[in-house]
Amino acid sequence: MAQNFRCLISIEFEPGPAYTLICGPNASGKTSLLEALAYLGRGKSFRGGQTSNLIRHGEQDFVLFGQVEAAGRVTKLGVRNSREGLEVRVDGENQSGAAALAAALPLQVIDPDVHNLVSGGPDERRRFLDWVAFHVEPDYLDLWRRFRRALKQRNAALKGGTGRNGLSAWDIEFVELGERVDAARRRVLEVSLPALREQGDALLGSHVDFQYASGWSAGKALKEALADNIERDLGMGSTQAGPHRADLRLLYDERQARRLVSRGQQKLLASAMILAAAETAQAAIGRPLLLLLDDPAAELDQDSLARLMSRVEGLGSQVIATSLEMEALVLPQAPAVFHVEHGALTAG
Ligand SMILES: Nc1ncnc2c1ncn2[C@@H]1O[C@H](COP(=O)(O)OP(=O)(O)OP(=O)(O)O)[C@@H](O)[C@H]1O
Ligand SMILES: [Mg+2]
Repeated sequence: MAQNFRCLISIEFEPGPAYTLICGPNASGKTSLLEALAYLGRGKSFRGGQTSNLIRHGEQDFVLFGQVEAAGRVTKLGVRNSREGLEVRVDGENQSGAAALAAALPLQVIDPDVHNLVSGGPDERRRFLDWVAFHVEPDYLDLWRRFRRALKQRNAALKGGTGRNGLSAWDIEFVELGERVDAARRRVLEVSLPALREQGDALLGSHVDFQYASGWSAGKALKEALADNIERDLGMGSTQAGPHRADLRLLYDERQARRLVSRGQQKLLASAMILAAAETAQAAIGRPLLLLLDDPAAELDQDSLARLMSRVEGLGSQVIATSLEMEALVLPQAPAVFHVEHGALTAG
């Protein structure tokens, strides 16, 4: 159920267990519907921008409510967003953040901006790897949060002009947590690598590979890297070396993929990464994910689209896809079909 979310005034939506197709003309509300579903599992939008833009013009808040059935258990999720901020409820209990949503409704999205994962800066690729880590290693979220806090404290000390000596207390924690984040990400990449390579090779028809770059000089301990950078850190008032600067490097035929591959290939490589992440997470948590495909046909020729959809089928996730025309997207099985027009939904 979604209320006052973008153009959706009030809709009820029950997707099929395997495939659901949502059709409608431009600006009818297809992406908004997927965005509402994703918001229920993430507490944020995949489109970026300010949360206030998500509230229907002229309204004070939006409300989303959903039930997730997994392993014979139903979990009730509720989200309300107003000027006062975000309220999250899981099974009637207030939650302080979105982590409980992500655990109850794990999902991934392939939308027309997915190519940014390949062509954009390292942030998105770090977030990508962190998402897999969150599902594969139960302690990762806590570790990552503690590292973020240590980074903030060290940066505050750098800005506060404590000088070299005042930093050493912060450095011990920063180094300990930073190296643990690094090690966890490397483990997670190792676990994901077979799926990443396989999905990449299958979608691009060429050899793709992935390398983790720590965010500091290769072969050095983080402590040494901090010592090397101390003048710059003090000058800039922020920490230049650490896992917050890490990247996941993408190689296509052994060369840097970012600028080499075409726009369609960027979408295929990014989609391969998303499918591999979903595959890895599904294996770790032992249940299918929700996979949201917003206009998957965009930018892809017929062959590429067919390859993508066959890979999607192999995953066994619950899939909800949008399309301008019903015929433009052939799903592996007969889907549940919905039409959207002016933010209203009709089945069939
Ligand atoms: N906060 C808001 N309040 C009301 N309407 C909004 C809000 N935000 C966006 N819209 C409108 O919602 C409509 C539907 O947008 P949406 O992106 O969901 O369409 P779509 O069906 O995915 O279109 P396309 O086929 O072009 O991708 C647009 O007309 C947009 O201007
Ligand atoms: Mg759209």
